[in-house]
Amino acid sequence: MTKPDSVSAPAFPDELREQVDAYLAEMHFSADPGVARLDEAMRYSLLAGGKRIRPVLALATASAIGLTSSEVLPLAAALELIHTYSLIHDDLPAMDDDDMRRGRPTCHVAYGEDTAILAGDGLYAEAFLHLLTHQRGEPANILRAAAELASATGAAGMVGGQYLDVAASAPSGAQGLRHLHALKTGRLIRASVECVLLIEGSQEPATIEHFENFSSELGVLFQIVDDILDVTGSDEALGKTSGSDERLGKRTYVTEFGLEGARRLAHEAHSKASAALAGAGTGDPAQLQQITDFIAHRSF
Ligand code: IPE
Ligand code: IPE
Ligand code: MG
Ligand code: MG
Ligand code: MG
Repeated sequence: MTKPDSVSAPAFPDELREQVDAYLAEMHFSADPGVARLDEAMRYSLLAGGKRIRPVLALATASAIGLTSSEVLPLAAALELIHTYSLIHDDLPAMDDDDMRRGRPTCHVAYGEDTAILAGDGLYAEAFLHLLTHQRGEPANILRAAAELASATGAAGMVGGQYLDVAASAPSGAQGLRHLHALKTGRLIRASVECVLLIEGSQEPATIEHFENFSSELGVLFQIVDDILDVTGSDEALGKTSGSDERLGKRTYVTEFGLEGARRLAHEAHSKASAALAGAGTGDPAQLQQITDFIAHRSF
Protein backbone atom coordinates (compact mmCIF):
# COMPACT_ATOMS: atom_id res chain seq x y z
CA MET A 1 0.00 0.00 0.00
CA THR A 2 1.20 3.47 -0.74
CA LYS A 3 2.26 5.43 2.31
CA PRO A 4 1.95 9.08 1.33
CA ASP A 5 4.21 10.34 4.08
CA SER A 6 6.94 7.74 4.06
CA VAL A 7 8.11 7.24 0.48
CA SER A 8 10.34 9.78 -1.20
CA ALA A 9 8.47 12.42 -3.17
CA PRO A 10 8.50 11.96 -6.94
CA ALA A 11 9.67 14.66 -9.32
CA PHE A 12 7.70 17.89 -9.48
CA PRO A 13 7.70 19.99 -12.67
CA ASP A 14 10.33 22.37 -11.25
CA GLU A 15 10.64 24.34 -14.47
CA LEU A 16 6.99 25.40 -14.06
CA ARG A 17 7.54 26.37 -10.42
CA GLU A 18 10.54 28.47 -11.44
CA GLN A 19 8.40 30.22 -14.07
CA VAL A 20 5.79 31.01 -11.39
CA ASP A 21 8.37 32.19 -8.84
CA ALA A 22 10.05 34.51 -11.33
CA TYR A 23 6.68 36.00 -12.31
CA LEU A 24 5.53 36.52 -8.70
CA ALA A 25 8.83 38.12 -7.73
CA GLU A 26 8.07 41.02 -10.08
CA MET A 27 4.70 41.81 -8.49
CA HIS A 28 4.29 45.00 -6.42
CA PHE A 29 0.96 46.26 -5.20
CA SER A 30 1.33 49.92 -4.26
CA ALA A 31 3.84 52.68 -4.94
CA ASP A 32 2.34 54.94 -2.23
CA PRO A 33 5.05 55.47 0.46
CA GLY A 34 2.35 55.48 3.14
CA VAL A 35 1.32 51.96 2.09
CA ALA A 36 4.87 50.59 1.77
CA ARG A 37 4.65 48.40 4.88
CA LEU A 38 1.39 46.81 3.67
CA ASP A 39 2.98 46.11 0.27
CA GLU A 40 5.95 44.60 2.14
CA ALA A 41 3.67 42.37 4.26
CA MET A 42 1.84 41.13 1.14
CA ARG A 43 5.14 40.30 -0.57
CA TYR A 44 6.59 38.81 2.63
CA SER A 45 3.95 36.08 2.65
CA LEU A 46 3.72 35.70 -1.13
CA LEU A 47 7.46 35.30 -1.68
CA ALA A 48 8.23 33.15 1.36
CA GLY A 49 8.44 30.00 -0.76
CA GLY A 50 5.58 27.54 -0.90
CA LYS A 51 5.10 24.63 -3.22
CA ARG A 52 3.14 26.69 -5.81
CA ILE A 53 0.89 23.70 -6.47
CA ARG A 54 -2.11 25.71 -7.69
CA PRO A 55 -0.28 27.92 -10.23
CA VAL A 56 1.83 24.97 -11.40
CA LEU A 57 -1.37 22.98 -11.90
CA ALA A 58 -2.71 25.81 -14.07
CA LEU A 59 0.47 25.90 -16.17
CA ALA A 60 0.51 22.10 -16.55
CA THR A 61 -3.18 22.12 -17.56
CA ALA A 62 -2.37 24.72 -20.22
CA SER A 63 0.39 22.49 -21.60
CA ALA A 64 -1.93 19.47 -21.55
CA ILE A 65 -4.50 21.20 -23.77
CA GLY A 66 -2.06 22.71 -26.25
CA LEU A 67 -1.45 26.21 -24.84
CA THR A 68 2.01 27.32 -23.76
CA SER A 69 2.41 27.57 -20.01
CA SER A 70 3.35 31.26 -20.16
CA GLU A 71 -0.03 32.08 -21.72
CA VAL A 72 -1.77 31.53 -18.38
CA LEU A 73 0.81 33.08 -16.02
CA PRO A 74 -1.52 35.96 -15.01
CA LEU A 75 -4.21 33.45 -14.01
CA ALA A 76 -1.58 31.36 -12.22
CA ALA A 77 -0.40 34.40 -10.25
CA ALA A 78 -4.00 35.23 -9.29
CA LEU A 79 -4.42 31.70 -7.92
CA GLU A 80 -1.29 32.01 -5.77
CA LEU A 81 -2.27 35.46 -4.48
CA ILE A 82 -5.62 34.07 -3.37
CA HIS A 83 -4.03 30.99 -1.81
CA THR A 84 -1.55 33.18 0.08
CA TYR A 85 -4.38 35.40 1.38
CA SER A 86 -6.17 32.27 2.62
CA LEU A 87 -3.03 31.15 4.50
CA ILE A 88 -2.52 34.56 6.14
CA HIS A 89 -6.12 34.56 7.40
CA ASP A 90 -6.06 30.84 8.30
CA ASP A 91 -3.10 31.49 10.63
CA LEU A 92 -4.65 34.46 12.48
CA PRO A 93 -5.25 34.13 16.24
CA ALA A 94 -9.02 34.08 15.64
CA MET A 95 -8.63 31.17 13.21
CA ASP A 96 -5.88 28.52 13.68
CA ASP A 97 -3.56 30.79 15.69
CA ASP A 98 -0.33 29.53 14.12
CA ASP A 99 3.08 31.20 14.42
CA MET A 100 4.99 29.63 11.56
CA ARG A 101 4.23 29.45 7.83
CA ARG A 102 6.45 28.68 4.87
CA GLY A 103 9.38 28.46 7.25
CA ARG A 104 8.96 31.99 8.61
CA PRO A 105 6.99 33.73 11.34
CA THR A 106 3.38 34.09 10.14
CA CYS A 107 2.30 37.43 8.69
CA HIS A 108 0.53 38.58 11.88
CA VAL A 109 3.57 37.67 14.00
CA ALA A 110 5.86 39.66 11.71
CA TYR A 111 3.58 42.64 10.96
CA GLY A 112 0.75 42.63 13.52
CA GLU A 113 -2.80 41.38 13.20
CA ASP A 114 -4.24 44.55 11.68
CA THR A 115 -1.68 44.61 8.86
CA ALA A 116 -2.01 40.84 8.30
CA ILE A 117 -5.80 41.09 7.88
CA LEU A 118 -5.34 43.91 5.38
CA ALA A 119 -2.54 42.05 3.57
CA GLY A 120 -4.96 39.15 3.03
CA ASP A 121 -7.75 41.46 1.89
CA GLY A 122 -5.33 43.23 -0.45
CA LEU A 123 -4.04 40.02 -2.02
CA TYR A 124 -7.59 38.88 -2.74
CA ALA A 125 -8.52 42.08 -4.59
CA GLU A 126 -5.15 42.29 -6.38
CA ALA A 127 -5.67 38.74 -7.65
CA PHE A 128 -8.82 39.72 -9.54
CA LEU A 129 -7.29 43.00 -10.70
CA HIS A 130 -4.34 41.11 -12.15
CA LEU A 131 -6.50 38.45 -13.83
CA LEU A 132 -8.84 41.00 -15.37
CA THR A 133 -6.11 43.37 -16.58
CA HIS A 134 -3.27 41.00 -17.59
CA GLN A 135 -4.75 37.70 -18.75
CA ARG A 136 -5.04 37.49 -22.54
CA GLY A 137 -7.86 35.66 -24.27
CA GLU A 138 -11.45 36.16 -25.41
CA PRO A 139 -13.02 38.66 -22.96
CA ALA A 140 -16.07 36.40 -22.47
CA ASN A 141 -13.79 33.48 -21.60
CA ILE A 142 -11.82 35.54 -19.09
CA LEU A 143 -15.05 36.65 -17.44
CA ARG A 144 -16.09 32.99 -17.16
CA ALA A 145 -12.76 32.18 -15.52
CA ALA A 146 -13.08 35.14 -13.12
CA ALA A 147 -16.59 34.01 -12.16
CA GLU A 148 -15.33 30.47 -11.54
CA LEU A 149 -12.51 31.80 -9.36
CA ALA A 150 -14.93 33.96 -7.35
CA SER A 151 -17.34 31.06 -6.93
CA ALA A 152 -14.52 28.69 -5.92
CA THR A 153 -13.38 31.06 -3.18
CA GLY A 154 -16.72 32.39 -1.90
CA ALA A 155 -19.33 31.06 0.50
CA ALA A 156 -20.02 28.02 -1.71
CA GLY A 157 -16.27 27.40 -1.98
CA MET A 158 -13.13 27.97 0.08
CA VAL A 159 -14.56 30.49 2.55
CA GLY A 160 -17.63 28.32 3.10
CA GLY A 161 -15.28 25.39 3.74
CA GLN A 162 -13.22 27.42 6.21
CA TYR A 163 -16.48 28.26 7.99
CA LEU A 164 -17.48 24.57 8.17
CA ASP A 165 -14.02 23.96 9.64
CA VAL A 166 -14.01 26.70 12.32
CA ALA A 167 -17.69 26.28 13.24
CA ALA A 168 -17.42 22.46 13.18
CA SER A 169 -20.75 22.50 11.33
CA ALA A 170 -20.19 19.97 8.51
CA PRO A 171 -22.57 16.99 8.55
CA SER A 172 -21.23 13.96 10.41
CA GLY A 173 -19.86 10.91 8.60
CA ALA A 174 -17.51 10.37 5.69
CA GLN A 175 -19.63 12.38 3.24
CA GLY A 176 -19.71 15.38 5.57
CA LEU A 177 -15.94 15.35 5.96
CA ARG A 178 -15.42 15.00 2.22
CA HIS A 179 -17.76 17.97 1.69
CA LEU A 180 -15.72 20.07 4.16
CA HIS A 181 -12.45 19.18 2.39
CA ALA A 182 -13.93 19.66 -1.06
CA LEU A 183 -14.92 23.23 -0.20
CA LYS A 184 -12.04 24.31 2.05
CA THR A 185 -9.22 23.12 -0.21
CA GLY A 186 -10.69 21.23 -3.13
CA ARG A 187 -12.55 24.08 -4.82
CA LEU A 188 -9.48 26.29 -5.38
CA ILE A 189 -7.48 23.31 -6.65
CA ARG A 190 -10.33 22.44 -9.02
CA ALA A 191 -10.49 26.06 -10.19
CA SER A 192 -6.74 25.95 -10.94
CA VAL A 193 -7.57 23.43 -13.67
CA GLU A 194 -11.03 24.63 -14.72
CA CYS A 195 -10.13 28.29 -15.20
CA VAL A 196 -7.54 27.25 -17.79
CA LEU A 197 -10.16 25.25 -19.73
CA LEU A 198 -12.50 28.26 -19.55
CA ILE A 199 -9.84 30.67 -20.83
CA GLU A 200 -8.96 28.33 -23.70
CA GLY A 201 -12.66 27.96 -24.35
CA SER A 202 -12.89 25.17 -26.93
CA GLN A 203 -12.82 21.90 -25.00
CA GLU A 204 -15.53 19.26 -25.54
CA PRO A 205 -18.03 18.80 -22.65
CA ALA A 206 -16.79 15.22 -22.14
CA THR A 207 -13.19 16.42 -21.79
CA ILE A 208 -14.24 19.12 -19.34
CA GLU A 209 -16.07 16.50 -17.28
CA HIS A 210 -12.97 14.29 -17.09
CA PHE A 211 -10.87 17.26 -15.96
CA GLU A 212 -13.55 18.14 -13.37
CA ASN A 213 -13.47 14.62 -11.98
CA PHE A 214 -9.68 14.67 -11.96
CA SER A 215 -9.32 18.02 -10.21
CA SER A 216 -12.10 17.33 -7.66
CA GLU A 217 -10.40 14.12 -6.59
CA LEU A 218 -7.00 15.81 -6.58
CA GLY A 219 -8.31 18.54 -4.25
CA VAL A 220 -9.62 16.05 -1.72
CA LEU A 221 -6.41 14.01 -1.98
CA PHE A 222 -4.42 17.17 -1.24
CA GLN A 223 -6.28 17.86 2.01
CA ILE A 224 -6.21 14.21 3.17
CA VAL A 225 -2.42 14.31 2.85
CA ASP A 226 -2.33 17.71 4.61
CA ASP A 227 -4.25 16.12 7.53
CA ILE A 228 -1.83 13.15 7.62
CA LEU A 229 1.24 15.41 7.55
CA ASP A 230 -0.16 17.51 10.40
CA VAL A 231 0.22 14.35 12.53
CA THR A 232 3.33 12.74 11.05
CA GLY A 233 5.40 15.73 9.79
CA SER A 234 7.88 17.91 11.65
CA ASP A 235 7.77 21.71 11.88
CA GLU A 236 11.10 21.86 10.03
CA ALA A 237 9.96 19.67 7.13
CA LEU A 238 6.53 21.32 6.81
CA GLY A 239 7.67 24.91 7.38
CA LYS A 240 4.56 25.30 9.56
CA THR A 241 3.50 24.16 13.03
CA SER A 242 2.63 20.46 13.04
CA GLY A 243 0.01 19.14 15.46
CA SER A 244 -2.14 22.21 14.89
CA ASP A 245 -5.27 20.14 14.13
CA GLU A 246 -5.05 18.15 17.36
CA ARG A 247 -4.38 21.27 19.43
CA LEU A 248 -7.51 22.86 17.97
CA GLY A 249 -9.64 19.70 18.14
CA LYS A 250 -10.17 19.77 14.37
CA ARG A 251 -12.08 17.09 12.56
CA THR A 252 -9.75 15.57 9.97
CA TYR A 253 -9.30 12.39 7.95
CA VAL A 254 -7.00 11.16 10.71
CA THR A 255 -9.49 11.76 13.56
CA GLU A 256 -12.28 10.21 11.47
CA PHE A 257 -10.47 7.17 10.01
CA GLY A 258 -7.17 6.84 11.92
CA LEU A 259 -3.75 7.20 10.30
CA GLU A 260 -3.90 3.93 8.39
CA GLY A 261 -7.48 4.63 7.26
CA ALA A 262 -6.48 8.10 6.05
CA ARG A 263 -3.52 6.61 4.15
CA ARG A 264 -5.81 4.07 2.51
CA LEU A 265 -8.23 6.83 1.44
CA ALA A 266 -5.34 8.92 0.10
CA HIS A 267 -4.23 5.92 -1.93
CA GLU A 268 -7.78 5.50 -3.29
CA ALA A 269 -8.08 9.21 -4.16
CA HIS A 270 -4.71 9.04 -5.94
CA SER A 271 -5.91 6.10 -8.06
CA LYS A 272 -9.21 7.80 -8.88
CA ALA A 273 -7.53 11.08 -9.84
CA SER A 274 -5.02 9.24 -12.06
CA ALA A 275 -7.80 7.27 -13.77
CA ALA A 276 -9.83 10.44 -14.43
CA LEU A 277 -6.75 12.14 -15.88
CA ALA A 278 -6.02 9.20 -18.18
CA GLY A 279 -9.66 9.35 -19.33
CA ALA A 280 -9.44 13.01 -20.36
CA GLY A 281 -7.84 11.85 -23.62
CA THR A 282 -6.38 15.18 -24.65
CA GLY A 283 -2.82 16.41 -25.25
CA ASP A 284 -0.01 15.35 -22.93
CA PRO A 285 -1.01 14.77 -19.30
CA ALA A 286 2.53 13.85 -18.13
CA GLN A 287 3.11 16.96 -15.98
CA LEU A 288 -0.37 16.70 -14.45
CA GLN A 289 0.37 13.08 -13.53
CA GLN A 290 3.68 14.20 -11.97
CA ILE A 291 1.84 16.77 -9.83
CA THR A 292 -0.75 14.15 -8.83
CA ASP A 293 2.01 11.75 -7.73
CA PHE A 294 3.78 14.54 -5.87
CA ILE A 295 0.61 15.53 -3.99
CA ALA A 296 0.03 11.91 -2.92
CA HIS A 297 3.59 11.18 -1.81
CA ARG A 298 4.84 14.56 -0.61
CA SER A 299 6.46 14.92 2.79
CA PHE A 300 5.94 18.72 3.10
C1 IPE B 1 -1.60 24.60 2.78
O1 IPE B 1 -1.42 24.65 1.40
C2 IPE B 1 -2.99 24.98 3.12
C3 IPE B 1 -4.02 24.07 2.68
C4 IPE B 1 -4.85 24.40 1.75
C5 IPE B 1 -4.15 22.78 3.31
P1 IPE B 1 -0.03 24.26 0.73
O2 IPE B 1 0.47 22.99 1.34
O3 IPE B 1 -0.21 24.28 -0.75
O4 IPE B 1 0.91 25.44 1.20
P2 IPE B 1 2.15 26.13 0.48
O5 IPE B 1 1.58 27.01 -0.59
O6 IPE B 1 3.04 25.06 -0.08
O7 IPE B 1 2.81 26.94 1.56
C1 IPE C 1 -6.43 25.65 5.47
O1 IPE C 1 -6.47 24.35 5.96
C2 IPE C 1 -7.13 25.75 4.18
C3 IPE C 1 -7.13 27.13 3.68
C4 IPE C 1 -6.19 28.00 3.96
C5 IPE C 1 -8.22 27.53 2.85
P1 IPE C 1 -5.49 24.05 7.18
O2 IPE C 1 -5.77 24.91 8.35
O3 IPE C 1 -5.48 22.57 7.39
O4 IPE C 1 -4.10 24.49 6.51
P2 IPE C 1 -2.70 24.45 7.26
O5 IPE C 1 -2.52 23.03 7.72
O6 IPE C 1 -2.76 25.45 8.36
O7 IPE C 1 -1.73 24.79 6.17
MG1 MG D 1 -7.36 25.95 9.12
MG1 MG E 1 -4.29 26.06 9.49
MG1 MG F 1 -3.72 21.46 7.83
